[in-house]
Amino acid sequence: MGAQILDGKAIAADLRAQIASLVAARVAEGRRPPGLVVVLVGDNPASQVYVRNKQKACEQVGFASEIVRLSGESTQAELLDLIDDLNARDDVDGILVQLPLPPQIDEDTVTERILPTKDVDGFHPYNVGKLVLRQPTLRPCTPKGVMTMLSRTGIALVGKDAVIVGQSNIVGRPMFLELLMARCTVTVCHSKTRDLAAKVRGADVVVAAVGVPRFIKADWVKPGAIVIDVGINRLDDGSLCGDVDTDAVAEVAAWITPVPGGVGPMTVATLLENTLVAADLHDPD
Ligand code: GUN
Repeated sequence: MGAQILDGKAIAADLRAQIASLVAARVAEGRRPPGLVVVLVGDNPASQVYVRNKQKACEQVGFASEIVRLSGESTQAELLDLIDDLNARDDVDGILVQLPLPPQIDEDTVTERILPTKDVDGFHPYNVGKLVLRQPTLRPCTPKGVMTMLSRTGIALVGKDAVIVGQSNIVGRPMFLELLMARCTVTVCHSKTRDLAAKVRGADVVVAAVGVPRFIKADWVKPGAIVIDVGINRLDDGSLCGDVDTDAVAEVAAWITPVPGGVGPMTVATLLENTLVAADLHDPD
């Protein structure tokens, strides 16, 4: 394989260690540790794994964290009441409601109920708008984590042609804004895009966020490209794979993220980073 590995696991570990020492310094000054509450509604198996990982990471860096579990039959009013309580608590800096939510609950209404300064996901329209205006505050974790991984690896982005495959609110759209802010020329592709392979072939940077196993093929990738795989797909044999046909694409690309061990750990470390940013907003020194 020709490509170098973008080692999200190692970079995330460094980031967590830095956060842990900042938290320790805060606590040594007599300030409270940052507090994160993760809300899980129902028993989606993937969500349970993600929430456990987030909780474990919080403990590791010395945050005060809680998981609040609500039944899958909970009403929207019950979840909104919980958010109101968490918004009012001085010891809670970050509120993360794990998505997806059951069908009786409207995700947009829930997202908008979280105080923008506690929105560590960066999904509230206020925080999205600030990112659009190049005045980022709390930024969506996965795209921000990708940017951190690229900058810490020393990969320059200015002037590069970037293609994002996937237009979700969680990844594709904020990734577009991050790469544009980094002065890339950015194309966002989606299910109605014509001649996707040709679009991807023109890219110096490819970000795959489609949720289809091994969707991005080696003959779509420009030699020397930087390939970021945001997908985490569980196959029938229980193994994980991304949205990129990794082994074949690694023969062509200059840089590639593995799955697992690429973007996933960066997302969790960035959530911690955002919670520390939120804590500084609520409790400046
Ligand atoms: N579900 C999948 N990704 C995410 C994420 O980044 N945040 C939340 N809240 N839910 C998710």
